[in-house]
Amino acid sequence: MKNIVKMSDLTNEEVYELITRALELKNGAKVEAREDLFVANLFFENSTRTKHSFEVAEHKHRLNVINFDAATSSVNKGETLYDTCKTLEMLGCNMLVIRHSQDAYYNELSNLNIPILSGGDGSGEHPSQCLLDLMTMYEKFGTFENLNIIIAGDIKNSRVARSNYNMLTRLGAKVKFVCPDIFKDETLGDVVDFDEIIDKVDVCMLLRVQHERHDSKMGLSKEEYHNNYGLTKERYNKLKESAIVMHPAPVNRGMEIDTKLVEAPKSVIFEQMKNGMYMRQAMIEKIIKDNNL
Ligand code: CP
Repeated sequence: MKNIVKMSDLTNEEVYELITRALELKNGAKVEAREDLFVANLFFENSTRTKHSFEVAEHKHRLNVINFDAATSSVNKGETLYDTCKTLEMLGCNMLVIRHSQDAYYNELSNLNIPILSGGDGSGEHPSQCLLDLMTMYEKFGTFENLNIIIAGDIKNSRVARSNYNMLTRLGAKVKFVCPDIFKDETLGDVVDFDEIIDKVDVCMLLRVQHERHDSKMGLSKEEYHNNYGLTKERYNKLKESAIVMHPAPVNRGMEIDTKLVEAPKSVIFEQMKNGMYMRQAMIEKIIKDNNL
């Protein structure tokens, strides 16, 4: 079974193929309609972009879409994730899109005979977000080699930081982090001073402060966080002419980024969302092909 649940599931060549295909789709390439296939979307955590862009992508492939509703499902009677997914397999689903709060939830699904596209696992990885981020950078710069990338925010709790750091490093980019001590992840790269690096970066990627994953208070007010670790107007004005500003969203406006900068000329935040739909189409196409569906 060929899944896409973490970036190590993909070779560099496969990543470039997905980017190329997603850009072709953005430029109007057509996909094969597959009215015979069923896909179930299982989102056990909240989502707007990932859930609905997968849904739009699935409809573009003319798949039959089942939007599993965890709140009204038998999960509330104690049914396990495995039994839920096995049930959907037995009902004839051909692929599953899953977001779950448990890190590496997919490990307990390895006996399923149905491919999985992950919409994010706990604080683990977010492969479709990583791929759409790569697509957005590649669209702008045409390469990852020697790109200077700063990832600023809640690194420790971020599946986007983990997927992007590992993949961008693999592809030759130089990635550094900006964050307060409580958000540091020692397993990832160097933490640097935002003001010392801001004028050298090609990509300034901001990450959401994930209040829902903190078991204690951050110890910084919204203003203190913004002034020390956020993209202020002053920092924005120091960016290179060619630099881009990214954020996977949802955005805490006025915290990670000044609200007036969300749609500033260097911001590609909403373009990332648009690209996400094309990337998820490319991922679905790859899952269909790799699993001979
Ligand atoms: N970027 C992202 O994963 O957004 P959602 O949580 O809305 O899917």
